[in-house]
Amino acid sequence: MSSKCLLLVSVVLALTGLTQSFQPLFASDGNSTSHREITQRAVLRKTAEVCRDIAGAEGRDFSLTIDDSLTADRVQEACSVSDNSTSLLSSVLFHTSIANMYFSNANVDLASALSDEHHFDGEMFQKGRDLITKGVSAVKASVKLENFIAGRWTLGRVCHTLQDFYSHSNWVELGNIAPYNALIKPDKTIKNLAGPNISTCRNCTGDNCDDNLLPDVLQQGLLTSGYFNLISSEKPDGKCSHGGSFDQTSKRDPVGGINKDKIGSSHGSLHHEAADLAENATVELLGDIRTAVGDQNFLRLMGLSQSSVLCFVIDTTGSMSDDIAEAKRVSFKIIDSKRGTQQEPSAYILVPFNDPGFGPLLMTTDADKFKESISQLTASGGGDIPELCLSGLQLALTAAPPLSEIFVFTDAPAKDAALKSTITALIESTKSEVTFMLTDVLTSRRKRALNQADAQLYRDLARASGGQAIEVSKSDLALATSVIEDSSSSAVVTVFQVVMNPGKPDNFTFVFDSSLRNVTVYITGTSSLSFNLTSATGVSQSSSESSGPLASLSLAGNLRRLTLNNDNETGMWEISVDSNDTYSVKVTGQSSINFIYNLVEAHEGLHADFFLKEGRPLSGGNATLLVTVAGSDSVNIPEITLYDNSGPAEVNGTLQSLGGSNFLVTFNEIPAGDFVVRLRGEDSSSSLRSTPSRFQRQASTQMKTSSISLTAQANSTNIEPGSTVVIPFTVTTTTSGVINETATGTFRVRATNDRSFDSTSPSSVTIETDGGGRANGTVTLTAPDTAASGTDVTLTIEADDAATTDINYVVLRFSVAAEVTDVNGPVCQEVSTSTNCSSSSLCYSSQWQFVANVTDGVNGTGIERVTIREGNGTLNTTTVVGSGGENITVASYQASCCADKVELSVVDKVGNVGICVGQVRQSTTVAPVTAANVTTYTTSTGGHTLSSTLCVWITVVALPLWK
Ligand SMILES: *[C@@H]1O[C@H](CO)[C@@H](O)[C@H](O)[C@H]1NC(C)=O
Ligand SMILES: *[C@@H]1O[C@H](CO)[C@@H](O)[C@H](O)[C@H]1NC(C)=O
Ligand SMILES: *[C@@H]1O[C@H](CO)[C@@H](O)[C@H](O)[C@H]1NC(C)=O
Ligand SMILES: *[C@@H]1O[C@H](CO)[C@@H](O)[C@H](O)[C@H]1NC(C)=O
Repeated sequence: MSSKCLLLVSVVLALTGLTQSFQPLFASDGNSTSHREITQRAVLRKTAEVCRDIAGAEGRDFSLTIDDSLTADRVQEACSVSDNSTSLLSSVLFHTSIANMYFSNANVDLASALSDEHHFDGEMFQKGRDLITKGVSAVKASVKLENFIAGRWTLGRVCHTLQDFYSHSNWVELGNIAPYNALIKPDKTIKNLAGPNISTCRNCTGDNCDDNLLPDVLQQGLLTSGYFNLISSEKPDGKCSHGGSFDQTSKRDPVGGINKDKIGSSHGSLHHEAADLAENATVELLGDIRTAVGDQNFLRLMGLSQSSVLCFVIDTTGSMSDDIAEAKRVSFKIIDSKRGTQQEPSAYILVPFNDPGFGPLLMTTDADKFKESISQLTASGGGDIPELCLSGLQLALTAAPPLSEIFVFTDAPAKDAALKSTITALIESTKSEVTFMLTDVLTSRRKRALNQADAQLYRDLARASGGQAIEVSKSDLALATSVIEDSSSSAVVTVFQVVMNPGKPDNFTFVFDSSLRNVTVYITGTSSLSFNLTSATGVSQSSSESSGPLASLSLAGNLRRLTLNNDNETGMWEISVDSNDTYSVKVTGQSSINFIYNLVEAHEGLHADFFLKEGRPLSGGNATLLVTVAGSDSVNIPEITLYDNSGPAEVNGTLQSLGGSNFLVTFNEIPAGDFVVRLRGEDSSSSLRSTPSRFQRQASTQMKTSSISLTAQANSTNIEPGSTVVIPFTVTTTTSGVINETATGTFRVRATNDRSFDSTSPSSVTIETDGGGRANGTVTLTAPDTAASGTDVTLTIEADDAATTDINYVVLRFSVAAEVTDVNGPVCQEVSTSTNCSSSSLCYSSQWQFVANVTDGVNGTGIERVTIREGNGTLNTTTVVGSGGENITVASYQASCCADKVELSVVDKVGNVGICVGQVRQSTTVAPVTAANVTTYTTSTGGHTLSSTLCVWITVVALPLWK
């Protein structure tokens, strides 16, 4: 790369914070609407609509008003089916999913800042539409394989491009009040484009661009969009510009622009119309996905699940048969006691490992399939050699939803300890907890037994994640697995957690609030450890009492588990621990009140904004978190801190409220050691109490800083089978959080992916003397020809300074998406309709029937599913072979005459959607009706209706989903 080219790249990188779209996350003027808000509102509306429809079909009430004032908490509550399991609700997973979608949406302004098609700039209508329809196909393929995380990531990107259309084109100016349906329908043509030689704009009058679109364009309804260029003012003659001070094209004739990104933009007076249309367009897009994937999968894609996953990573070598039997027992117990309740795990994940193999990963929502798989595990082989534990754990970490708790069962050292930093990166990125069930550590005389150093690897990973390293004899394992049952409860929150390494006697305090249920205290440490627990009113219990005034205590190996007797005593509690060996204390309970946080990073530019920051924050710098408080719309302004117990040090953040329960929290310094995010606050929602209840929560994941900055951006999250994505990355060193431009040095680089796809990476990069403090490189990732559409792959890129063990990383997710050639929706053709409906008898005592043939066309992928979209009758489908050898799905619908209409959704194998409509209508001709009058009609023989007193009118159409 020439130095001129390098310069250009760095100019571009420096300016990527400029936003030439709706503001990505935060509208700095306070009144404009950002991509984040548009996306969140659309997700909440569509999710609520789906829940309303499900409730209607099941005959349940649904009283939530669906409008733009919905909150995730209220939607979650309205969507939950109350059962007798008295489970608490948690909206943490829903909030996390929404955040993933808006972060990925916003990231398009970083990763594809200057690509016209990603923003519908420069009249790139066809290419922009292709990005949307290809992206939607990829989302549907991901959902089909239950890869919801990757699906959300792609969906966020697609929404960005779709939403930008309404800001960057003249769709709003043309007077349209509904979204442009052709943008989400690959089989529709985009019409009325202003051709390349058609002038579309004239100069603005000074700063006023209200009237710069040419009257001819408006009269003829021609579609155009603004040109944008950061560096050159070149644009085709007579064309509109995007506008704004970064856009050089808007400085030459025709001067000015047409974007509606915010209120202060060229066409800012139309900003709110554009944002509303973008929201409605997003709702439509979500509706198309909903129909294609079905209601339950749609809700899972949106993250609407209260329960956690049950995730086991199990060593299957010879000595593990007792452990496997125990994992089986406890999982069966959980499944059998929770099946059919809201607490039933939302998915089951099982990863076996041994040597030389690991996997395959089983991820299923079907409890019986999980039971069958865990029953089939047998302990065999191995014996003397360490196992591929971390490789198995890597699979689980990338497959499980964020914030999961993963249980690893082993009795042997990890052969793949070199993956430790990768696993740590994945833990920090997913915020999942890893708890190790280590059996017969140090006690076994077998060669494969763990020594202290081996066990320390597991302890370090547990600690980094906020999980526990439980060391127990095989015979006592059953006593320890109660932690698995505890973690499978709903709405588990961490109130307080600390690891003392090295150990020293200390006292710890924490606050219990009135929302907490089933409080449990876990202490791990050596057998000489003793403790004393004191309640808010001063009642004490020591470690020698197994059943005392406050709690009952059970012991298993190095684990002490205290179950509190009652949850009513709110206020400040204390625990004093006496031990000089390493120990940990963890206090959990169940509560709806919790929080999520993500590290964000400010980018400079005219419209400075924040973007999701991958990897570790920079040592000595500042940090910004986007925090959402879940479970209470009435939390007063909380206190958010970074807590480092090695100091101990606690740094206070400065809060900026973003509306709802979202806060932007800025820390001017970051603790130097490992630290966690803490939240304290007051909840005034409880109507029973006159004073607000104080509460405290703590994030599990340990964070740490790095002086290495690693950035990597891929311009697409999708890879076609057999193709390669190239991911450029940059390594810099920083001092006090700022790039040190005179630094030099060599950094080791490693790229690891969880699918064993081919990948290349330099083994190191060097910052040269005049390199401006930066070193660049590229990583490639190649999907095999055989990779199925919808397969996800997680790539972790790490850079470390071998000398100081300083490390930073980026975690990138991709989905395999084969090119979709079947873009046409399935087609319906009526076969017959018959009715016994009569106006004289009660409607429920008579029936009508509608039969249609459904096909997917010659080049179609075939019919996947026919479902009832509207109507409460019964549907049967059979497949027959047509005269031309084609497959025909015969859909036969039967319903009582009380509902005279049916709409069937027909979905093909790649998720294209068609709709069949059938309807019975009373004729206006009045005559006596008897059963004998009933005749069978089809639309093609509609003339028969003349002779009938009862008219059956049927339409059979393949409607676009949205008109
Ligand atoms: C936001 O809009 C309100 C009412 O339209 C106005 O009073 C206020 O000044 C605006 N705020 C900003 C920062 O533009
Ligand atoms: C829930 O409780 C009600 C009344 O207590 C009972 O009638 C119903 O059968 C219970 N449902 C389930 C699923 O246990
Ligand atoms: C968006 O959809 C809502 C609900 O269907 C409707 O009330 C509103 O008018 C629509 N907004 C626009 C700008 O079309
Ligand atoms: C812990 O608290 C006890 C009783 O309040 C006190 O005697 C002891 O000195 C404290 N220990 C530490 C390490 O602060």
